[in-house]
Order: sequence, then C-alpha cells, then structure tokens
Amino acid sequence: MHRHRFEAKHHKRLDSAYRRRILPPSTTLKRFGLKREMTVADIGSGSGYFLIPAARIVGKGAVAYAVDASKDMLAVLGKRNPPSNVVLVHTTDGYGFEIESNSVDYVIASAILHENEPVRFLKEIRRIMKPKATLLIIDWRKESLRYGPPIEERLTPAEVKAFLAKSRLKATKAVILNPRYYAIVAKKA
Ligand SMILES: C[S@@+](CC[C@H](N)C(=O)[O-])C[C@H]1O[C@@H](n2cnc3c(N)ncnc32)[C@H](O)[C@@H]1O
Repeated sequence: MHRHRFEAKHHKRLDSAYRRRILPPSTTLKRFGLKREMTVADIGSGSGYFLIPAARIVGKGAVAYAVDASKDMLAVLGKRNPPSNVVLVHTTDGYGFEIESNSVDYVIASAILHENEPVRFLKEIRRIMKPKATLLIIDWRKESLRYGPPIEERLTPAEVKAFLAKSRLKATKAVILNPRYYAIVAKKA
C-alpha cells in the first residue's frame, strides 16, 4: 500500500525558478553535510533536482544512486544527461531498493515521505545506510498551501521524528528552511 505518488508528467513543477531560489539544491546538500567521495542515494530522485548536484558534489569516483518507483521519472532523468557516476535504480513497489545493505554514506529523501508508509519506507532506507550515514529529509510544511500535496497528506516535523524513532533512526537536526519546506537530518539510533 502506498499513498498517491507524484506523476512524471508533472516533473517540470519540481524544477521551477522559485524552487531553485528558496531551495538551492547544491547549497542545501553541502549545508547538510554532503561531501566529496561519499556514496549517495536519492530515494524518489524524480527529475534529478537533488540527484544531479549530489552526483557532482561526490565526484566521479563515487556512486550516486537515483532510486525511483516510476520508470517514466527515471526516463526523464536519463534524458537530462546525468553525470557518469549516476546509477539508475528502479524499485517496483518502493519498499525494496536494489542497493547493498550498509553501503551508503548519505541518503536524500525529498518530497517523498508523505507518499509512502513512513516506517516501512524508513526501515528500508536504514538498511542501506552505513553505521554513521546521514539521512536528509526535506518535506513540505503543513502551513504552506501553494503547490505541493494536499494538507492532510503532509507530515509535521514532530510526526517525522516519531516515525524515525519507530524505524531505529534519530533526528539530529530539524530546520525550517523557508515558507515551504523543512529539513530533518537523521542518523542510525
Ligand atoms: C514529489 S516527487 C519529488 C522528486 C525529488 N525528490 C525532488 O525533490 O524534486 C516524488 C518522487 O518520488 C517517487 N517515489 C515516491 N515513492 C517512492 C518510493 N517509495 N520509492 C522510490 N520512489 C518513490 C515518485 O515516483 C516521484 O518521482
């Protein structure tokens, strides 16, 4: 079971000039600790808004996994000519990623948690994380109603923290980024 997922035909909405201004992808990833040579996985990478800058930050010697449940979305990303260290991973049900356990330094989960059963989804993310790995969650605030998913589908930072705890992950940082988005950084508990 999963909730309504974002459709590939709307992918341009994910890459607006406004979003780039309030949520600059490269700056945001560096601010929350993404560094050269890290193995990175973007779960629900969509059109590559975070994935493409992430692949550049980690550099050609490190793998950047683009994981998505939508083949159409992976095709959109493929057409954008992603850097050569990007590996596309299709997940059929969204709860099993073909990535080795304990192998990833940095996981990105942006605008995706609310589309899934949070604990099942977070447990699969935890499986691929190395012991000291970082998980960066970015999601829509419940307050901001322009664009994004319906308010009843959105999760508050407090709800996300509770789901993290149930998934044996702990939030180490929670930041309101701007009128639309918040960020939560988590580690293995
Ligand atoms: C709203 S888009 C966000 C895309 C990107 N993370 C961003 O911030 O621009 C959500 C994406 O996550 C994908 N998705 C949703 N649930 C997923 C899951 N459990 N596993 C993999 N991909 C998933 C959807 O197919 C879609 O491409």
